[in-house]
Amino acid sequence: MDIRDKIVLLTGASRGIGTYIAKTLAKNGAEIIGTARSVDGLNVVKAEIEKDGGVFHALPFDLHKINELSSLVSQASAINGDVDILVNNAGIEHYNEYQDYSADDVRDVIKINLRVPMELTRLLLPSMLEGGGHVVSIASLAGKKGVAYNTPYSASKAGLIMWTDGMRQEYHESKVGFSVICPGYISDAGMFYDGHVDPPALLGTSKPQAVADAVLKAIRKNSAEIIVNKGPMKPLLAIGQISPSFGDTVVRKFGVSKVSKKRIK
Ligand SMILES: NC(=O)c1ccc[n+]([C@@H]2O[C@H](COP(=O)([O-])OP(=O)(O)OC[C@H]3O[C@@H](n4cnc5c(N)ncnc54)[C@H](OP(=O)(O)O)[C@@H]3O)[C@@H](O)[C@H]2O)c1
Repeated sequence: MDIRDKIVLLTGASRGIGTYIAKTLAKNGAEIIGTARSVDGLNVVKAEIEKDGGVFHALPFDLHKINELSSLVSQASAINGDVDILVNNAGIEHYNEYQDYSADDVRDVIKINLRVPMELTRLLLPSMLEGGGHVVSIASLAGKKGVAYNTPYSASKAGLIMWTDGMRQEYHESKVGFSVICPGYISDAGMFYDGHVDPPALLGTSKPQAVADAVLKAIRKNSAEIIVNKGPMKPLLAIGQISPSFGDTVVRKFGVSKVSKKRIK
């Protein structure tokens, strides 16, 4: 899909990786409707994009209000017509030992990371099926291999990956594409960077711009899945599929669990 003049609804647009996605899509000619709770954050992004000649509409919304998403979709469509592209980027994580999670923490991670993208897509799909469209969801490598002390997050991202997989097959012959992006550890901005913990030395980090570039590529090429990681990750993931217990050993050797444990507040 050519993104010029397309209307993009982007969640999580107030900070972190979402700001890079907003700027990259705007620079390539899309009209961005950015949503998040922070009005200040959205307005900063709006000013930066408009300074460069792009178009950004701030649409504040708390995604916890999942039963009111139809109102978000109506407000978005009222701005300049139907949404062509949905980017499900908003996400949350809570690190903890599993027995210490509250039921609300588990529910919220699954809600924001998985149920909201599914529900927004359900609401936007009828108009996309008529006019064409694309849905990009930002999952994580944590959805390809489970991560200790962040297990509800891993479950939510694995769900997002497999839901996208099914949607791609179901709508294969339609005018709507579905892509999932799986970033590893991201430097400079976002939830990992904000945690102030060093990444596992062997895995390293990628730049947030690499995630934004992957979103652009996914829309243009209708990519099924893009992994954003410094080193080669696909062979390791393949080994983990063939032998999950060997995969566990590799993950422990890389120090992923140790890094996650440090992030328990
Ligand atoms: N950073 C990484 O290393 C990394 C790695 C892999 C995958 N990811 C994924 O990349 C995506 C972006 O992450 P990030 O690192 O940029 O995270 P972030 O810096 O924490 O930003 C999260 C965004 O989601 C929004 N959000 C959170 N809860 C919300 C709610 N209830 N209602 C509306 N908006 C809400 C936040 O806006 P408000 O707080 O203003 O509402 C913010 O704009 C996420 O899906 C994350 O899982 C990140």
